[in-house]
Formats: sequence, structure tokens, C-alpha cells
Amino acid sequence: MRRIRAVVYGAGAMGALATRLMTEKGVEIVGAIARNPDKVGRDLGEFAGIGRLNVPIEADAEQVLATRRPDVVLHATQSFLPEIKDQLALCVRSGANVVTISEESFYPWSSSPGIAAELDALAKENGVTITGSGHQDSFWLHQVSALLGTAHRINSVYGKATWNADEYGADIIQSKHVGETLEQFQESMASEHRPPTFGGNLLSALAQATGLTPKEWKTEISPVVADEDRYSNSIGVTLSKGTVIGYADIDVMTTVEGPTFTFEMSGYVFGEGESDMNRWVVKGEPDLYLDNGRVPSYTTTCTQWVNRIPDVINAPAGFVTPDQLPPLRYRALPMQNYVTPGALA
Ligand SMILES: NC(=O)c1ccc[n+]([C@@H]2O[C@H](COP(=O)([O-])OP(=O)(O)OC[C@H]3O[C@@H](n4cnc5c(N)ncnc54)[C@H](OP(=O)(O)O)[C@@H]3O)[C@@H](O)[C@H]2O)c1
Repeated sequence: MRRIRAVVYGAGAMGALATRLMTEKGVEIVGAIARNPDKVGRDLGEFAGIGRLNVPIEADAEQVLATRRPDVVLHATQSFLPEIKDQLALCVRSGANVVTISEESFYPWSSSPGIAAELDALAKENGVTITGSGHQDSFWLHQVSALLGTAHRINSVYGKATWNADEYGADIIQSKHVGETLEQFQESMASEHRPPTFGGNLLSALAQATGLTPKEWKTEISPVVADEDRYSNSIGVTLSKGTVIGYADIDVMTTVEGPTFTFEMSGYVFGEGESDMNRWVVKGEPDLYLDNGRVPSYTTTCTQWVNRIPDVINAPAGFVTPDQLPPLRYRALPMQNYVTPGALA
């Protein structure tokens, strides 16, 4: 079987790591897209620090997709569906499947149902699949839903995750309001145009995976403030004591069937000695616990994103969320070995 052809849409922090992972798992990278004139024209392999791949980073997404005809696009540009809708539509119209790590795309049916429906129809028309993945795929969805599958009765589910916003690109730093004063942060939070929380999309996916019906939602957002000066590698700035370095979302979802779900997710610029964590506590019969210790979310975002490539190619056409996909699998062999025979034209 021939190799899978992929385009990296968003040659940033995540795109760079995924480039190495794909190359090591036999995926043929045939194109790369970014906007910044400092990046455009550079070789993707050199940008990713793995040596020349002879794949230039280009700015004209339409041209890249039309001329390279990838089987799949690994998409990582921005977080929310309204801002990436046209990018996803372009991929789908070119006949490519898409795995995106846009957080809202993980389960867009609750926060942007209209856009999700449009993209779903467009994907079906073109016989391809769009799916979301990233850190939440196994750590927040499939591991948790497997744990819940061992319960006789669930009263409540509480998850707490932290991750270091400083490991990612400017988009995350900006969306986490890093560097704002408390007053600026409070003004942003009071604005009517707040995007959906990552936790809200995740809890919707968990409800779907456990066959529960969301009833009511509540979200609280609290800033994380620097307790001493700390340096941000991502933006190359010292954030002084008292500055906002990120924030926590606490999402609470009640369900028609009874169980209440709470997810507290904090993304902020870490100081010395801090590490990402992922812990879940289920109260019911019996009480259940999940703790992943020190979680390397930066890496696991990309490993899961890349390991989903065969699944998105094998999936039925449409906007298929990860709760509809099998749990992630280790990929020991080149990726094309996991594709359903005949799925690569
Ligand atoms: N689900 C997860 O687990 C997870 C984890 C990490 C990150 N993410 C999300 O993934 C996205 C990328 O993260 P990152 O850390 O890699 O960010 P990054 O380093 O800023 O990279 C983003 C890339 O996307 C490109 N880009 C942005 N907007 C674009 C547009 N409209 N058209 C074409 N290219 C565009 C940027 O191009 P230029 O540099 O040329 O401007 C850059 O190459 C973010 O939205 C982030 O929230 C999700």
C-alpha cells in the first residue's frame, strides 16, 4: 500500500513536532502552510529541526491543497470554529480528510452547531472526514469514558487538569490573556463575545460518550496571577509579579439522568518545578480515581493527533467527533498499515 500523503496546515509549535512524528511513522509530507513572511519559503524539515525534507512552507493554502492533493491535513492554526471554518472548508473541498487540534472542533455541536452542520454537510458531499483530536482525546475523553464504563452508578465526576501555556505558540498565549493586568483581564471576561471554554466542548463529548443528556451548564473563570516575576519563553518577556499568566475555567454540567460533571482546567505560564497534571475522581458505586502523574501534554497533543491519521481516513464522511472514533491505538508500523484496504485511492 502506498504511503499516506499529508499537509501540515499551521507550521507552528505543534506542526513542527507533528512533522517529526509523521516522518518517523512513514507519512509522506507533501506541503506546509503558514503566513508569516519569516517562515514562508523555509523548508518544513529545517523549520522542525529534523533536516531538509524538501517541503517548502507556503502561504497560499488553496494552491498547496489543489496541487498536492493530500489524503489528510494536520490542522493547527487557531482554536475556535468561526475563525477556522473557511480553512477547514478549503481542505474538505480539495478532497482531503482533516484532523484538527482546534479545541472547539473536539465537540463543536454544543457551541457552534450551525458551523458544525455546514462543515458536516460539506465533508459528506466531498466524501471526507473532519475530526478533532489533541491532548483531550485520550486523557480527557477516552481514558475517562473507559473509567466510567467500570462504574455501576455515577453520582459525580470531577476532573482537574493543568498545562503549561508557555510551551505553545502565540495563539495560546494570547487566548490565555497572558501579560494582561487584572483589570484588563476582567474587562475581557465581561465582554459578550467570550469564546467557548475548552472544558465545555470536552464535557459535551464526555456526555455523548457515556450516553448522558446535558441539562444545565455553568462556567466560572478565574485568573492565575504571577506570585513572582517569571519569564515566558514563548513570548520572550518577563511577566512581573501581579500580572495575569493564564486562567482556570471551571465548567459544571448537570445531566438529565443525574450525574454531575465538573472539569477544572488551568492553562498558564508555569514557574520552576511545576508540571502538567490530569486527575479525575468519580463518586458513585464504586468511587473511582484516575491520575496520570506528570503529563507531557505538549508531546501527547501531537502523538495523539498523528496517531489519529488512520482513524480519520477510515471514518465515515462528515464531521465525526472523537467520541465516535475507536480509542487511540499505538502505531508501531508505518501509518498506511492501519488504513482500511482501498481507502487510499
Ligand atoms: N487540542 C490540543 O490539545 C491543543 C494543544 C496545543 C495547541 N492547540 C491549538 O493548536 C493551535 C496551534 O497551536 P501552536 O502552539 O502550534 O500555535 P503556533 O505556534 O502559533 O502556530 C500556529 C500556526 O498556524 C498558522 N496560522 C495561524 N492562523 C492562520 C491562518 N489564518 N492561516 C494560515 N495559517 C495560520 C501560524 O502561521 P504564522 O506563524 O505564519 O502566523 C502558525 O504557523 C492553537 O489554536 C492551539 O490552541 C490545541
